[in-house]
Amino acid sequence: MRVVLGVTGGIAAYKATSIIRLLTEAGHEVKVIPTQNALRFIGATTLEALSHNSVDPDLYTDVESVKHVELGKSADLIIVAPATASFLARYAAGIADDLLGNVLLASNAPVLVAPAMHTEMWNNAATVANVETLRARGIEVLTPAAGRLTGEDTGVGRLPEPEEIIEAALALVSVRDLAGKRILVTAGGTREAIDPVRYIGNHSSGKQGVAIAREAVRRGAKVTVLAANIGSLQISGATVIAADTAIEMEHQVNHLLRDQDAFISAAAVSDFRVAEVSPTKLKRSQLGDQINLRLIANPDILAGVVSRVREENLDVRTVGFAAETAGSHWALAELAKAKLGSKGCDVIVANDVSESAVFGAEHNDALIITRDGKETRVAGTKTAVASVVLDILAGL
Ligand code: C5P
Repeated sequence: MRVVLGVTGGIAAYKATSIIRLLTEAGHEVKVIPTQNALRFIGATTLEALSHNSVDPDLYTDVESVKHVELGKSADLIIVAPATASFLARYAAGIADDLLGNVLLASNAPVLVAPAMHTEMWNNAATVANVETLRARGIEVLTPAAGRLTGEDTGVGRLPEPEEIIEAALALVSVRDLAGKRILVTAGGTREAIDPVRYIGNHSSGKQGVAIAREAVRRGAKVTVLAANIGSLQISGATVIAADTAIEMEHQVNHLLRDQDAFISAAAVSDFRVAEVSPTKLKRSQLGDQINLRLIANPDILAGVVSRVREENLDVRTVGFAAETAGSHWALAELAKAKLGSKGCDVIVANDVSESAVFGAEHNDALIITRDGKETRVAGTKTAVASVVLDILAGL
């Protein structure tokens, strides 16, 4: 595979040498594009020797070959490591004032960015907004590791280990084994109104469902996402439809199901909704010290899909999720198997939320069980979990 490695001007630039070495040892062709500032930290000669390729960051040499377009188009994968705060700002703004910036804009290859900077710079509102922008465009931005930084200080900001960067990057270059498949994914957490101001909701961030949708797009699927309360979600290459309540979600699922090859039910759907939603704001002064809300059961969307698939003989694979407070791996497996049985879906993806580290986190630890009893455990980024879920789905 042809990998473009962008290196920007931070102290961690020297770690690019390990990334180059690991990639070339694995048989990949590496073209390094440092920024001018990166060359203050590491020499072009070192980068050339390790990559077995010439290194020329100048946009204005070799112009006749239109090298930024050639490099961008021929890349199978682009990694930027380390990425400085300044690089993140330029990339988020689409600024192409050097070779790396031009190549990034000229390429359709998947991009992984591994930032490294001081904690304060990583947490700065400008950097946070730039990272959000890039992630919304489908660019994989790793969260820096915590540990010793350049000075005496420690905190979040270290470049992740080269092995981790490469693993995450290679996971982006997936085969297009889902080409043409239509996949409906629900994501987020439904909110059930109490009155025009309050609702009953849950902690789901939608990140796992969104990671699945993005991964499915990368693998060639035609993806529709029913997003429950995930803000202004955009996934390039996918259709995103807002479905904020269980009833709205069920309506959309019923409408879209017939045309799908798979239904992935990653949303946390509220099991109950308020029976009598107040049309006006409930006033504390009129309610007294206690209120009773009468709740009625929401439809179980996944179970409904499974029975429709059976009744109408639809060729749709179904994947359910189970967020359980299990406490142990064994208990989680038992709960997951029970849920697989009760929902009747083809695959169940279970995780233990006892420590509540899963909600909103970038990582997940999931146990995936198929109807024929095959168990797969995967711990890693939500993208890594998405990739394994889709491997299993593709196998079906
Ligand atoms: O029963 P439980 O809520 O744990 O089941 C979780 C799975 O069922 C998830 O895949 C979720 O999307 C789905 N579900 C649903 N409709 C509901 C509740 C859950 O589709 N009302």
